[in-house]
Amino acid sequence: MDYMNLKGKVALITGGSRGIGRAIAVKLAEKGCKVVVNYRGREEEAKRTLKMIEEFSEGLALKANVGNREEVRKMVDETARVFGGIDILVNNAGIVGEHRSIREITDEEWREVLRVNLDSMFIVTQEVLRYMKKGKIVNVSSVAGRTGGSVGAHYAASKAGIIGFTFSLARELAPDILVTAIAPGPVETEIIDEETKKKLATLSLLNRVAQPEEIAHAVIFLLENDYMTGVVLDINGGRYMI
Ligand SMILES: NC(=O)c1ccc[n+]([C@@H]2O[C@H](COP(=O)([O-])OP(=O)(O)OC[C@H]3O[C@@H](n4cnc5c(N)ncnc54)[C@H](OP(=O)(O)O)[C@@H]3O)[C@@H](O)[C@H]2O)c1
Repeated sequence: MDYMNLKGKVALITGGSRGIGRAIAVKLAEKGCKVVVNYRGREEEAKRTLKMIEEFSEGLALKANVGNREEVRKMVDETARVFGGIDILVNNAGIVGEHRSIREITDEEWREVLRVNLDSMFIVTQEVLRYMKKGKIVNVSSVAGRTGGSVGAHYAASKAGIIGFTFSLARELAPDILVTAIAPGPVETEIIDEETKKKLATLSLLNRVAQPEEIAHAVIFLLENDYMTGVVLDINGGRYMI
């Protein structure tokens, strides 16, 4: 049986400067991918990720706001120019927004969360498809997109939107491009503070939140498997059994 050999493949990870995106970028480099790390503003963090990538493979760090078509187009063109194409896209960049009641979310907050989390998937994927004829796309959703939760409705709506987007693309792009999503429960990154982390740990059968590497491992699994498309993989420590 042939599994996708990641060695030498070109992978673009949005929001790869820290957190889950960094863990995915480093694991892909370990597998021999050439990894392009996108970030919005934290250049030092992006450079650190790049250093980690370069221990195993080649890489590039490119700044672009994933909600901005022009910046994304430049980033994608630059990736293709340097590495000759794009085989793998991980749409990971995201923001959680303020945890507010539906009665309080402002128009601006709603737009910003939807723009960064969902519009970005449309923009980045469309630009990447100019170069990707065969390949794989993994979109980062969240348990919030499955069940809502303690986060705001804007965040949950954006993450649920990603699931519909994934299903639609899987149908349209098969069999050349396989499209999947992951729905992590809480993960130990800057997105959650210490107090929230303790509270969220009780929502797992394992009494802890996930580590970024555990999420990255699931992404590698989806990328290596050649018979998975149109699925959302839950990684949440048994959350649905509580
Ligand atoms: N952590 C969790 O508990 C959890 C659970 C489920 C799903 N997720 C999802 O997993 C993904 C990564 O989350 P994380 O916890 O790793 O977040 P994080 O630690 O806050 O990192 C966010 C990353 O996204 C980048 N980013 C943010 N806005 C951007 C924009 N407009 N354009 C380009 N890049 C942008 C950041 O770049 P800079 O460093 O330059 O700011 C950074 O690399 C998100 O989609 C999140 O919704 C997280």
